[in-house]
Amino acid sequence: MTKENIYILGIESSCDDTSAAILCDAKILSNVVASQKIHAEYGGVVPELASRAHQSNIVPVVHQALKEANITKNQLNGIAFTRGPGLMGSLLVGTSFAKSLAYGLEIPLIDVNHMQGHILAHFIEESGYKKPPFPFLAMTISGGHTQIVKVINYFEMEVIGETIDDAVGEAFDKSGKILGLGYPAGPQIDKLAQAGKPRAYQFTKPKVAGLDFSFSGLKTAILYFIQREEKVNPNFVKENLNDICASIQYTIIEILMDKLKLAVKQTGIKHIAIGGGVSANSGIRAALKSAEKKHDWTTYIPKFEYTTDNAAMIAIVGYLKYLQNDFSNFDVMASARLKI
Ligand code: KG4
Ligand code: ZN
Repeated sequence: MTKENIYILGIESSCDDTSAAILCDAKILSNVVASQKIHAEYGGVVPELASRAHQSNIVPVVHQALKEANITKNQLNGIAFTRGPGLMGSLLVGTSFAKSLAYGLEIPLIDVNHMQGHILAHFIEESGYKKPPFPFLAMTISGGHTQIVKVINYFEMEVIGETIDDAVGEAFDKSGKILGLGYPAGPQIDKLAQAGKPRAYQFTKPKVAGLDFSFSGLKTAILYFIQREEKVNPNFVKENLNDICASIQYTIIEILMDKLKLAVKQTGIKHIAIGGGVSANSGIRAALKSAEKKHDWTTYIPKFEYTTDNAAMIAIVGYLKYLQNDFSNFDVMASARLKI
C-alpha cells in the first residue's frame, strides 16, 4: 500500500523555542516558531523559565500551525515530538502535549531524536535544495551540540567526533558576552564580523586529537586577550569590535573546517551536510562553498529557517518513521541525554 498525503504534526520544545510544524508527505505546510525572549535578560537559557514559557506557548503555536497549513486536527495521521536530547523541563511539555493529542485523536505517536532532526532536515522537499546521497557526513553545530556524524542511512548514524566541553554555539555566545553583546551573540558576531578583518588578532586553536572538538580554551583565551588590551586602552573593544568579531569567527571556522577535512580524509566521504543554529553563520557557509571547489566536496546547507531549532525537522523525521510504521508506545519518556 502506498502512503500518500500523510499529514504529520511535529512538535519541538527541547530548549527555548516552542515550535509546531505541519508536513504533507515531505513538504512543509507550516512551521511556526515562538522564540522565548525572556532569556536575553539573563544572558542564557534559564531552564525553569523555558518550561513555563513552553506551557503557555504550546497550544497557540499548534493552533497557528494548523491554521497556516489550512487543515484541521482530525486530518492528522501522526504526531511527532522531540524526545531528547534537551532540557528535561522543556522536553516534558512537548512530550506530554504530543501524547495527549495523539491519544485523543487515536493516531500514532512518533518520538524523534532532536539531533537526527537537525540532520534529516535535509530531506524536507524544497525547490532549489538537493538532498544528500548516503553515506554523507553531517556536522551538527548549535548552542547545545557539536558533532560530526557519519550518516549511513536515515536511521543508521555514527557519531565520529564531538565536543569534549562547550558547544560551538556556546563559544560564540560566551565570546559575545565578554564583548558585552546580548544573548544569543552568534548572529551579532556574524554581522559585525562582516565589516572586520579576520586575521586582525590571532587566537590559539585547541589541540584535541582525532575528530573531537574543544571550545572552552578559546573562550578563556579571548577573555585574557581582552583584559590585557583593555589595560592599555579601556576603549579597545568599542574601537575594534568588528575586527575582534571577525577574528573570533575566523578561528572558530578554522577549528570546524580542520576537523571536517580530517573526517573526509578518514572516511573518504565527500558529501558534507551541516545543521543546527550555527549553520546559519555566513562565514561557515562561505568556507564550505569554497571547499567545494578546493577539495571537490559537495556541500548541503539547509534553508535558513531549518537551521535553528524548529519543528519542521521533527516532522520530517516523524514522516520517515511513519513510512516504516516505527511508532512509539504511550509510555515513552522524554530523555535529556538521548544519544543518536
Ligand atoms: O540549533 P539552535 O537554535 O539551538 C540549539 O539546539 O542549541 O542553535 C542556537 C545557537 C546559538 O548559540 C546561537 O548563537 C547560534 O546558534 N547561532 C549562530 C548564528 N545564528 C545562530 N552562531 C553564529 N552565527 C550565526 N549566524
Ligand atoms: Zn538544536
